[in-house]
Amino acid sequence: MIYVDNAATTFPKPKIVTDKIMECSLGYAGNPGRSGHKLAMKMDLEIYETREKICKLINGTEPLNVIFTFNATDSLNIAIKGVLEKGNHVITTSMEHNSVLRPLNQLRKDGIIDLSIVYADKQGYVEPQKIFDAVTPQTKLIVTTHMSNVFGTIVDIKSIGEFCKENNILYLVDAAQSIGVLDIDVQDMNIDLLAFPGHKALFGPMGTGALYIKEGIKVKPLRQGGTGSYSHSIDQPDLYPDSLESGTPNGVGIIALRKGIDFINEVCIDNIRNHEISLKNHFIDLLKDNDDIILYGTLDDRQGAVVSLNVKDMDSSEVSYILSDEFDIYTRPGFHCAPLAHKSLGTDELGAIRFSFGYFNTIKEVEECVNALKIIIERIKK
Ligand code: ALA
Repeated sequence: MIYVDNAATTFPKPKIVTDKIMECSLGYAGNPGRSGHKLAMKMDLEIYETREKICKLINGTEPLNVIFTFNATDSLNIAIKGVLEKGNHVITTSMEHNSVLRPLNQLRKDGIIDLSIVYADKQGYVEPQKIFDAVTPQTKLIVTTHMSNVFGTIVDIKSIGEFCKENNILYLVDAAQSIGVLDIDVQDMNIDLLAFPGHKALFGPMGTGALYIKEGIKVKPLRQGGTGSYSHSIDQPDLYPDSLESGTPNGVGIIALRKGIDFINEVCIDNIRNHEISLKNHFIDLLKDNDDIILYGTLDDRQGAVVSLNVKDMDSSEVSYILSDEFDIYTRPGFHCAPLAHKSLGTDELGAIRFSFGYFNTIKEVEECVNALKIIIERIKK
């Protein structure tokens, strides 16, 4: 089996993560923050340790401003709906996932916000100046991905963060594809809100995610409920993380996520990134002169380890199906929940087959993917 769908979720997870899921589930999975007994308190403590570890990873200043959510979509919805008010203007890009585009478009349709969508160029690169040119006096928020989930193109978030700081605009970054691979420093990059999943390059289980909120920024809760704190009151607490974390969390998942971060720290994020980039470069090198393959993206160092392509004259779903069925190679075809990214690159009718490489992939697997594509091409030529 060759799993190259790491942009959807990383697989496999490191053994220390799966071992922790078992250890915690079997040993001490009490409801954190609720009961005051030893199991609940151990869960609570270990969840706090995960907050600290995440905060350190992104160079945040306050672990309590790491809000646990269920995935990046959840984090993005909390951030977007928690800071915007009627009359605000928002700028985003065509490279966003629907987890950004749909909530923003809904707010626009409900008459709450004005929305500007800045288009990437034909290679999927977003020119920061085009974002700056779209600013109006009403602009409250800029939302960009850090790395496209379809074409792997990397956004210059440092320049955008600097601009946002100078112009007093909030900056929300969707780090779904970058956290755990690219360096993120929320202070140096002037990121106000950072949304990310736990189950992708952080190697945690599905059902985990987080939102980091810069100190001093107020995010209104999307939902209210039990927090285990201030239980005598029917008012939602007004402090992080409680105000945004109502209900029982995925405690086992969060604790296992900490082990995912331990894994990254042990291997070292630079080594993870370099390995993934060498896989991507090798894949591109082997395919770039093939006339039957259309490769998308900048195909240079502005692109992470995600490469989308089409085999000439073939439907992306059909190719992906053959890869899975005959070659045990797992990719993702179609539109990847990012319709405007496909529009930017002209694949909005065809879709594309996405190969997203992860730390556990090897050069040999890359070559097997290329060989499988060549066999499919030879077959259609007969
Ligand atoms: N957002 C995930 C993907 O790109 C699920 O596949």
